[in-house]
Amino acid sequence: MKYAAITERLAHLGGAKWELHIEAKARRARGEPILSLSIGEPDLPPPPEVIAAARESMDAGRLGYSNGRGEAPLLEALARRYSRRTGREITPRQFVAFPGTQTTLYAVLTTLVGPGDEVIVGDPLYATYEGLIAATGASAVMVPLKPEHGFRLQPADVAAAITPATRLLFLNTPHNPTGAMLRPEEIAGLGALARQHDLWILSDEVYEELTFGNTPFVSPFDSADLAERVVCAASISKSHALPGFRSGWCVGPEDFTARLLPVAETMLFGNQPFIADATALAVSAPSPIAPQMAQAFSRRAQILHRMLDGRAGLRVNQPEAGMFALVDVRATGLSGIEFAWSLLDQERLAVMPGESFGAALAGWLRLGLTVPDDMVAEAARRILRLAERVREAA
Ligand SMILES: Cc1ncc(COP(=O)(O)O)c(C=O)c1O
Repeated sequence: MKYAAITERLAHLGGAKWELHIEAKARRARGEPILSLSIGEPDLPPPPEVIAAARESMDAGRLGYSNGRGEAPLLEALARRYSRRTGREITPRQFVAFPGTQTTLYAVLTTLVGPGDEVIVGDPLYATYEGLIAATGASAVMVPLKPEHGFRLQPADVAAAITPATRLLFLNTPHNPTGAMLRPEEIAGLGALARQHDLWILSDEVYEELTFGNTPFVSPFDSADLAERVVCAASISKSHALPGFRSGWCVGPEDFTARLLPVAETMLFGNQPFIADATALAVSAPSPIAPQMAQAFSRRAQILHRMLDGRAGLRVNQPEAGMFALVDVRATGLSGIEFAWSLLDQERLAVMPGESFGAALAGWLRLGLTVPDDMVAEAARRILRLAERVREAA
């Protein structure tokens, strides 16, 4: 049988990067005591009032079809939230609700780029981005994010990557997996390039509320002079520990959402009113649990830093937000893949090889910070033990 070209474009982007995580899960299921820091899922319960709002809404019969853009109370709550954030009037018509950031990104990219277009994106990158770009038929142009710049996308590096085919800068701040947050001057530089070359900016801000407190969150959407070309995507998956609700949205200029709406309607035929009601409540004020989560993730990143940085040649990157920390194991002479598999085999510790998130993280490990402090400390001990063994054997 014949299949559409999209299946060819996505075929090589699937499971290989998660091989270690899947193997670790299989070993655990067989009874091996594997300590797992390979993924990040919030380890706090969601706010009970948001769950109660969904339940009450279901009991009240809010179970019918919605419309393509989203339920009015949610769009109004989002408009109030982004008006507060930007200091400009943001209208409900500037939003479209989706089941999560992932679907949002898919629909937005489908609306903005296609075959022959180039999308500039930082490397390393969140695991689904390559697939999102490939699905549209556009090409991803990877710009390395360098540790010496705190893994932040540099306007000069982007300028060197722009060609006549460039259509969109795909930003992620706070960034997964590096935990880096763009600074105002970097956003200004990227915005100037976007204006000069008439590019869209798509900003994935799903970690907006999980910042560690030292660096303020800045979005390109908040600059009035960029508002006509910026689309932000976010959800309550991280901020409210509710990935299973699949509730996200995008905000952008009204002429953009007018083009996006038929794409959303074609994909989804509307959203779930009871999820929209709970989300309207969730976004009407800062998340009550995000500060507590961010504090725990930040503390765990510091534990790793204290226990590993500068020992056996290891380096630990200090994240500014998010759920992950990066450990540089290049001094051991092993790749991230070799080190991570040795950790699984010899130390029964599952962490992700940096290579799974892009070429720029070759020789690094990514650790999820969503497990208790003592497990993070135990993971650090196991990493150090392996690093010392490898160095002694060299
Ligand atoms: C950077 C980034 N974008 C998007 C997503 C997907 O979020 P959602 O659950 O809202 O689809 C994730 C989830 O890990 C992420 O890390």
